[in-house]
Amino acid sequence: MFVWSKVSPLSKQPVFEDRFLGLDQTNAVITELPGKKRFRIEVYCNGKKEAQKLLNEFGGQLSELKVRDWARLNASSERAPIKIRDRFIITGSNKKSEIKKISKAFEGRDVISIPAALAFGTGDHETTSTCLRLLVDITKEYTKNNKEWSLCDIGTGTGILAIAAKMLGSKKVECFDFDSTAIDVAKRNILRNETPDILVYEADLFEWKPRKKTSWNIITANIFANVLNANLAKIFSALAPEGNLILSGILREHEKSVIESAKKTSLQDPMIYRKGKWVSMHYKKD
Ligand SMILES: C[S@@+](CC[C@H](N)C(=O)[O-])C[C@H]1O[C@@H](n2cnc3c(N)ncnc32)[C@H](O)[C@@H]1O
Repeated sequence: MFVWSKVSPLSKQPVFEDRFLGLDQTNAVITELPGKKRFRIEVYCNGKKEAQKLLNEFGGQLSELKVRDWARLNASSERAPIKIRDRFIITGSNKKSEIKKISKAFEGRDVISIPAALAFGTGDHETTSTCLRLLVDITKEYTKNNKEWSLCDIGTGTGILAIAAKMLGSKKVECFDFDSTAIDVAKRNILRNETPDILVYEADLFEWKPRKKTSWNIITANIFANVLNANLAKIFSALAPEGNLILSGILREHEKSVIESAKKTSLQDPMIYRKGKWVSMHYKKD
């Protein structure tokens, strides 16, 4: 594995985000550097050719990621724990002793361990954290009324939303992604977080056929707007009456197009959450 990296002034960050943090791209990391004037972008490439191309296009640096570095990255506990309401702590640590410590420090919250890996969804991206917050809020109603609920997570990445759903008490959880690496990562995270009762499989949303007679109380889809728009009718059909649909990963400039596509399926008046350049929506089916 090769890593292309470059340090640039903060003003350039949006350009690099647009180029490398598209939601079908899961191999780039952007880190703000101390002083908040510069950031570092790192893109993890499977082959040297791919990394060399980035070096030729943007300058910067190229290095080979040695197995031991990769292991260190995966074991990283350097990311600060992320708090989601009073319900979850997301940590990058996969060490049992550290997780125990975090659990003790944040009593009453479930700890979700998602080490850095080549899949999207460590909790620190706005789109993921908004989905997590919405999940916590929406599911309170089911818990309060002692009602069973089910969840399907489309484009699961690391599996973080599916894992959170299971911890929140979902009776049935299913998730899929078209990226086989993401599926491997999600499976590992599901085991690591001791939420084994989740069906996880590889599928492309464009080809996905929701099972007849199965409808979901909650569907989460944190995917780019063009993928959502093309598949909203199918997603809508898989949603149970009064079901909740959480859409995220929508760039502000695509907000209107998603609302228009949703209207065609009779989904109306979403709650809209804007964070930076990202938009998330919560729809309720009649
Ligand atoms: C932004 S990530 C979301 C990951 C995670 N659910 C979260 O909320 O952090 C989008 C995920 O959708 C997957 N994806 C993109 N297009 C897809 C498609 N057509 N079918 C299935 N998965 C897709 C990507 O591989 C990626 O893992």
